[in-house]
Amino acid sequence: MAKFIVEQSGPLRGEVDVSGSKNAVLPILAATLMAEGKCEIYDVPNLRDVDVMCRILRSMGASVEEDWETHTITTEIGSVLADEVPYELVKRMRASIFAMGPLLARTGKARIALPGGCSIGDRPIDLHNKGMRSLGARVTTDLGMVEVEAEKLQGSLIYLDFPSVGATENIMMAATMAEGLTTIENAAEEPEIVDLANFLNKMGARIKGAGTDTIRIEGVEKLRGARHTVIPDRIETGTFMVAAAITRGDVLIRNCVPDHVKPVIAKLMECGVTVNDEVEGLRVRGDIRKLVATDIKTMPYPGFPTDMQALFMALLSTVDGASTVIETVFENRFMHAAELSRMGANIKVNGRTAIVPGKNPLVGAQVISTDLRAGAALVLAGLMAKGTTEISEIYHIERGYDSFMEKLVSLGANIRRCED
Ligand code: UD1
Repeated sequence: MAKFIVEQSGPLRGEVDVSGSKNAVLPILAATLMAEGKCEIYDVPNLRDVDVMCRILRSMGASVEEDWETHTITTEIGSVLADEVPYELVKRMRASIFAMGPLLARTGKARIALPGGCSIGDRPIDLHNKGMRSLGARVTTDLGMVEVEAEKLQGSLIYLDFPSVGATENIMMAATMAEGLTTIENAAEEPEIVDLANFLNKMGARIKGAGTDTIRIEGVEKLRGARHTVIPDRIETGTFMVAAAITRGDVLIRNCVPDHVKPVIAKLMECGVTVNDEVEGLRVRGDIRKLVATDIKTMPYPGFPTDMQALFMALLSTVDGASTVIETVFENRFMHAAELSRMGANIKVNGRTAIVPGKNPLVGAQVISTDLRAGAALVLAGLMAKGTTEISEIYHIERGYDSFMEKLVSLGANIRRCED
């Protein structure tokens, strides 16, 4: 098993390019299952999760070409599609569930292994199932599989009890080929949903309102192939912003959309970090003012992203004063608190609230990356910690960051990868 060895590093300085968004490209690749014709997707990040999605597409009978020189994936789907995604693939990536909507729309049937819980909570798929039922599908769960089936999908009004990102995307994909109008109310508003809707519309879908809490989809008979450039990853953007701040550095972050990281910018500025929107990107400086505590509460977009919570916890461990962090999106997303505390952060967790006392000097330790963002948070904490930090189970990090180590090294970080 590979590890990252991180040494205390000076302030990070330089320029870094953000890759395409993981959370946008995964449903977009799944959506190509509905296209009659070739799809070309540009700015695809080179990630384990993308590799799993490509395997899913291939297991369905698609031809998938990956060109990592240009970060382009080309897909073409033959007429015969398999309709089952086995546990072997689902256990590697929960986002495998994105195959459900497209397969149901294209073939009238999908059998997907149930994803089960993970280190950040139970993660049920009841809202995905509710959406498919509303569109007229029979949904059964048996022997660890969920099966959805319909002769013809029928447009419908669907109210989501929680604005789930994945459920909004899955329902939106299925509804593109349903008969008549589908309205999703209390829909998630994340930029990745807008990106998926833009791609589907290029394929010939008729979707309006993506990015608001009401999405309207007028069903069409067929979807064609399309070309699309994936939006920049807003969580990777935020990660490098925190990396600049935590090391009291000065980093220009290129290929990002400042509008997508508004809450991150606001919270960094509350901490005393300087963020300037320059022509080439966002310049983030942690070296101008003394950094101080701030409180964080995670919320669905446009609130503060849950995916940035662990990274902020690492930053808040190094500033003056105590901060409160409240996690409202996932029920168990504080595993990194214990790992950061092993490095001296002394964080107290009570239910969904964590108190970060701040200004405890961090010291290197052996820690475990419990999930993707938790792993990245530990790497950033390691850059500030005295001595050496050894982070294991880094496959989580490699699931979701393209060239994370290389990008950090280019900014002056002292980090290396080693096989155990
Ligand atoms: C997506 C992102 C993930 C991010 C999360 C929240 C992808 C591939 N992943 O995950 O990085 O952290 O949004 O911004 O895009 N829920 C239910 N029933 C459901 C579905 C969800 O109760 O059927 C609950 C979940 O357990 C969780 C909350 O809703 O507590 C949010 O989940 P959701 O928005 O669906 O997250 P994902 O789409 O899984």
